Amino acid sequence: EEAIALFLISLFSFSAAAAAAAIDRSQFPPNFLFGTATSSYQIEGAYSEGNKSLSIWDVFTRIPGKILDGSNGDVADDHYHRYLEDIELMHYLGVNSYRFSISWTRILPRGRFGQINQNGITFYNNLLDALLTKGIQPFVTLSHYDIPQELEDRYGAWLNPQIQKDFAYFADTCFKAFGNKVKYWSTVNEPNLMAKWGYMTGQNPPGRCSQPSCPSGDSKTEPYIAAHNIILCHAAAVDIYRKKYQVKQGGFIGIVMASNWLEPFTDTPVDKLATSRALSFDVPWFLDPIIYGDYPPEMLQILGSRLPKFSIEDKKKLQTKLDFIGINHYSSLYAKDCLFSPCDSETSEGNGFADRTGEKDGHSIGAKTAISNFYVVPSGMEKMILYIMERYNNTTMFITENGFAQEGSRNPSNEILKELLNDKERVEYHSAYLSSLLKAMRKGADVRGYFIWSLIDNFEWLNGYSKRFGLYHVNYNTQERTPKLSAKWYKEFLQCSAEIS
Ligand code: NOJ
Repeated sequence: EEAIALFLISLFSFSAAAAAAAIDRSQFPPNFLFGTATSSYQIEGAYSEGNKSLSIWDVFTRIPGKILDGSNGDVADDHYHRYLEDIELMHYLGVNSYRFSISWTRILPRGRFGQINQNGITFYNNLLDALLTKGIQPFVTLSHYDIPQELEDRYGAWLNPQIQKDFAYFADTCFKAFGNKVKYWSTVNEPNLMAKWGYMTGQNPPGRCSQPSCPSGDSKTEPYIAAHNIILCHAAAVDIYRKKYQVKQGGFIGIVMASNWLEPFTDTPVDKLATSRALSFDVPWFLDPIIYGDYPPEMLQILGSRLPKFSIEDKKKLQTKLDFIGINHYSSLYAKDCLFSPCDSETSEGNGFADRTGEKDGHSIGAKTAISNFYVVPSGMEKMILYIMERYNNTTMFITENGFAQEGSRNPSNEILKELLNDKERVEYHSAYLSSLLKAMRKGADVRGYFIWSLIDNFEWLNGYSKRFGLYHVNYNTQERTPKLSAKWYKEFLQCSAEIS
């Protein structure tokens, strides 16, 4: 038995090593950005320090039962106090870029109804300076879910067109304060998930729910109104950047979409149609208006008057477009028709009237991970990139997130800790997804960077600290960071480039 076990272990480590060896940095262009990604609420902690106000996540996580392990981001990775140490970790890895987000609540605690908070400006300036000193290019997101609670309380945040004024003011403040140090700006992170989970299923803040079984029974047009306002916020920020800053500061601005791939559940025409419909109801929901000026034809046709209209004025604003598309890609699922066939799930509307599943005939679409619906399907990354490349005329793309989740409690035993540190599956995951990315690039896709989610284990939203995505393990009692096998692998992968570039 032991011999078999040993054989299996050596086979496994051999395949991990082989996959890792098959690909290295030298196969990518010399100026390609390789980085790690994080977001403010997930790592910073210090939730009430430096005149920061509460965000919708500070408030939501306090509602009992919302977060799997009852935790919140009050302390998280204490990155607010340990950012220098965290930059050292990146320096050790040898990355040339770092994707992070600015907490709106640190810069404008009361939105446009209060003062600019110098503490917040100083914190991000220090972070930016320290990154630049180490030769790490900042890749900055303006809004990664954690908007000021005050905007929610005053006027319903994304549901109200007033948010455009607040977002524009926030963006302007950031471009002015940090723009000389930042070459890459993203306006919003994963607005497609924000609109669905915040206003359709209600699982995320502000917890608005428009599905048939919702206790609150909020209006079914809300997800589309929120999305509409987010699109116009993006346009307003880009407009300001183009007019006041871009020429002087010489940077680029884009948006980051949750971009998982879908395969038809069966070969039937209805499932194939459902798959393309479900894809349209996701990334193109935002990118078609931003790039072509209106919603995807399938959405207009099926949702009719529930979809808000862009006025002539709005369409003018949308002409600012974007410089790049950020792709967060983790997984692929099957899509099954729900428009002409009965539905299993009530979330089908948000998925273009398609049911989505990772399971078929007792098999899953790829290896399972610690997050349900996240399966390992490396080819899905190539397909998603090619889909976006074709639909948007090969607009420049960045893989702004790609990552692998481990099951891991807040206080793992020593035995579990050993397993968490020996994350061969993560090494295999990234090697395979990078190969898939290379295939897309060899077919002509203009992809210019790849960011691993995440630098360190952190607060994984509804899952609290029970899922770990980090290249570094975090001990939440001591805040000690320990490199996992994947950190060492990434370092080796990146070192090859130093020799050729
Ligand atoms: C995408 C989100 O942007 C990020 O905040 C999250 O932690 C990862 N997905 C993993 O679920």
